[in-house]
Amino acid sequence: MYAIGVDIGGTKIAAGLVDEDGTILAQARCGTAAQDAASIDKAVADLYTELSAGHEVRSLGIAAAGFIGADRSTALFGANIAWRDYPLGPRVAELLGDPHLRVVVENDANAAGWAEFRFGAGKDVDDMLLLTIGTGLGGALVVGGRLVRGSAGIAAEVGHMRVVPEGHLCGCGLRGCWEQYASGSALVREARSLARTQPDRAQALLELCGGDPEAVTGPAVTVAAAAGDPGAVELLAELGRWVGAGAASVTALLDPAVIVVGGGAGAAGDLILEPAREAYAAHLSGRGFRPEAPIVVASMGNDAGIVGAADLARI
Ligand code: BGC
Ligand code: NA
Ligand code: ZN
Repeated sequence: MYAIGVDIGGTKIAAGLVDEDGTILAQARCGTAAQDAASIDKAVADLYTELSAGHEVRSLGIAAAGFIGADRSTALFGANIAWRDYPLGPRVAELLGDPHLRVVVENDANAAGWAEFRFGAGKDVDDMLLLTIGTGLGGALVVGGRLVRGSAGIAAEVGHMRVVPEGHLCGCGLRGCWEQYASGSALVREARSLARTQPDRAQALLELCGGDPEAVTGPAVTVAAAAGDPGAVELLAELGRWVGAGAASVTALLDPAVIVVGGGAGAAGDLILEPAREAYAAHLSGRGFRPEAPIVVASMGNDAGIVGAADLARI
């Protein structure tokens, strides 16, 4: 039986028709109006209608970038999307009007982590940390073979662990969250600041973005870094060091066997992961007397959220 998985991120919505082995048979996507919850409902419903046409589909899994309640339908809070105690599942179900359709909402990182655990980079382990580096920093924890959801459904919000006292302001209302240092948004903030204040160190980057510091994007940093631009390489390395240091703290708590890194920043690969591995080892408690978890790129790439959401909607 096929299921539809939809992944709602801070900047885009991606959807897929998924079979029971986690294979995506067809895909579609559109942009997110992150400040308009109702337009997101509509976009999800439209993507569902487009992809399900001509197939027998009974479940829709929605991976959403926010705090999802234990009811697996309410978006309690979004740090980067305007959800505040929002009945996301019921609203989408209402638009589709099919009483036989099962709609399940899951945190986007949890969905991606589930897909990696079932079918991808975590399929051979029982304990895994997944980090998704996109607009925000998402986390999924698999402990003893189970996805950790916590008491209210909102465990593994690792992006909002405080890593810098009184640091940068976060969309969650606090300061110094890990997400403000290890996400695509953090990368863009730092890259623009570099382009503004030290244009000589950001020449390649500025060229890619028409000379305007405010037009600098995350993917442009990756392109410039891949071409060897030192300023861009350092920006990704800094992001990677934050990823690694934070992952070492999570390791102190949960001792994962593998750390899987996905999300948009996955495209930067070792430009982020090598510095992350170094910082991880440097910040590991009891180093030398314990295993060092490998930090690997998500094997399902950007599609993990779609596949995980579809799979979780079926079970
Ligand atoms: C949100 C998480 C989400 C992550 C990645 C964070 O800001 O709090 O719920 O998983 O971004 O999208
Ligand atoms: Na999560
Ligand atoms: Zn935060």
